[in-house]
Amino acid sequence: MSVVADRVLAKDKDDDSGEARHTLTRGDAALLRFAAAAEILESDFWIQYNELGGIQDAEVPGGFGNPAYTAKLANLDGDFAQYIHDNTDDEITHFTFLNAYLESHGAQPVDLEPFRTLAGSKATGSSGKLRLTNLMKLTLDTSWWTRYRSDTNNPDLDPTFVFPQAVPGLSKGTFTAIPRDNSDLTPDTHLQAIANTAAFHMPTIEQGGNSLYPSLAQRATSVEVLRILISIGPTETMHFQTWSDKAGAAVSPPIAPLVDPTNGLTFPDLTGGGETVQNNLIMPEPCPFLSRRLPKCSIIRPTETRGAAMGALAFLTAMGLFAGQSPKFFAFMRDLAEDADQARRMGD
Ligand SMILES: [Fe+2]
Repeated sequence: MSVVADRVLAKDKDDDSGEARHTLTRGDAALLRFAAAAEILESDFWIQYNELGGIQDAEVPGGFGNPAYTAKLANLDGDFAQYIHDNTDDEITHFTFLNAYLESHGAQPVDLEPFRTLAGSKATGSSGKLRLTNLMKLTLDTSWWTRYRSDTNNPDLDPTFVFPQAVPGLSKGTFTAIPRDNSDLTPDTHLQAIANTAAFHMPTIEQGGNSLYPSLAQRATSVEVLRILISIGPTETMHFQTWSDKAGAAVSPPIAPLVDPTNGLTFPDLTGGGETVQNNLIMPEPCPFLSRRLPKCSIIRPTETRGAAMGALAFLTAMGLFAGQSPKFFAFMRDLAEDADQARRMGD
């Protein structure tokens, strides 16, 4: 294929204003398509949280709210329901914008509706509609907690370094972050453990988005695609920091220590454990960046661009977010990720 044919996915066309639309390279379209898919999946599980524990309104309609679950979330922060609502609203606009941008530039938007096959929560408050993602069989890697508190290790420089887990129990076994049905509403400590699991799942996901966007952006060719990626990415960072604070409440008195009597899942009180687990840190500690010969720097990490999309897909799969999904779903997502990882910045 000629360089020109490869570079240009869509021919310039006049839009309503009469100005020529600029074109998307295949690589840029692939980067945006993977981001759009990730945002559709994020929206799907945030909607599930909002139906049960957020605020149902015209911006985020669907559910009816579950008062018992909402109260347990409110134990972690009185504004929890508002934050769920606003995070959900953000993700819906992210995928809607990305798909519209792709379409307006002659590229194919992402449609995951054929994969909407999973049963969601049957608890009071749920809309009962079919889902793309599963919040009821999660295994959470909470090592981001210590990764962002470490001033000596950066996964991009130390790919084999093992950052300790904040809540080791969440990484061993499968746990629900929402009441599966009304039997999960009691006993009290069980429902609080479910709310605590949500409080750790939320920043665990959002720190992934917080790394994904700068990782992908390094391979954007068009300055406008770069602008899109570096404008959406930091909103994921805002989510991550907000939810880090709620996770901190789940490992602090008076909530912690807490043991779920149904399965033994333990949320330790991390008070007094030293800086790598300190429970009130929500800003990154400076760490080595690019080279240890340079001064430490407070940064998002990791931001390695090679294999970033496949890495994100593996991370989401390993946490159980797609438990029950079809082989066709995984094949579809793998294609999107491979295409995104093959994208190269033109001129590099
Ligand atoms: Fe998003």
